Amino acid sequence: MPNFQEKPSAVITGGGTGIGLAIAERFLKEGWRAVVIGRRLDPLENLKRRQPEDVLVLQCDLTKPESVHETYDLIAAEPRFNQVRCLVNNAGIYEKRAFKQTGDTLWQAMFETNLLGAVRMTRELLPLLEKHQGSIVNVSSTLGLKPVDGTSAYSALKAAMINWTQTLAIECARQNVRANCICPGIVDTPIHAFHGQTEDEKAASLGGLQPLGRIGQPSDIAHGVWSLAGPGSEWITGSILNVDGGIFLA
Ligand SMILES: NC(=O)c1ccc[n+]([C@@H]2O[C@H](COP(=O)([O-])OP(=O)(O)OC[C@H]3O[C@@H](n4cnc5c(N)ncnc54)[C@H](OP(=O)(O)O)[C@@H]3O)[C@@H](O)[C@H]2O)c1
Repeated sequence: MPNFQEKPSAVITGGGTGIGLAIAERFLKEGWRAVVIGRRLDPLENLKRRQPEDVLVLQCDLTKPESVHETYDLIAAEPRFNQVRCLVNNAGIYEKRAFKQTGDTLWQAMFETNLLGAVRMTRELLPLLEKHQGSIVNVSSTLGLKPVDGTSAYSALKAAMINWTQTLAIECARQNVRANCICPGIVDTPIHAFHGQTEDEKAASLGGLQPLGRIGQPSDIAHGVWSLAGPGSEWITGSILNVDGGIFLA
């Protein structure tokens, strides 16, 4: 492990809400710094207000290559944040739609955000990850392993992310950079329409689907990410970790 003069940093895309926010909070709790990225500044600034010294907020649209490149430049130029030891490609969009109603526009939006955005950010940040022997954690989905009705574009791109993670793991091992993938099950975040429902409503509609009897919380996924990136994970690469309350087996 490299000897850090400064605290190491984790870069988290989509770090202002849901799972990404919980991941950023976990890294901060473990004594790292967090670079949080998204299109909307407000949710990112909320986190920064809580721990201003350790949080760098960068507005970036992953669907725009120049925005991703600019983000790399800004991170590289910040000595307090450029010791990047983890990139979490977490940003994503979700829409449930039948295959027959899924036109090119939705396929392209899913591709640009859920796969190519992560590819672009990884390509830009690899030199910093190589310098600091860091790791990449890609946030895929159980749907990438076992799709359900009405999710063809989302599930196909999440499956591609899993496969890409494994190629990355092989290629990046030469530079001692690791790449792993986490597959969340159903987690209570703003990505879902049920997010605003009462606990009773959520339990009635989704609780029965979960072998462990409850929907996941963002902190459940953050714990999985930390186990793939934190101390003790040095020999873990190319792995696919389900954190899903058992729904993959249901
Ligand atoms: N919740 C679940 O049940 C579940 C299950 C499996 C996998 N996942 C995956 O977990 C990840 C996080 O989702 P979440 O559930 O936490 O939902 P969320 O709260 O909606 O988070 C998605 C994040 O992605 C960011 N984002 C979207 N498009 C972006 C773009 N073009 N450029 C930069 N940032 C962008 C959003 O910020 P801005 O809108 O401000 O850009 C937002 O912070 C996603 O990849 C999702 O597919 C979620």
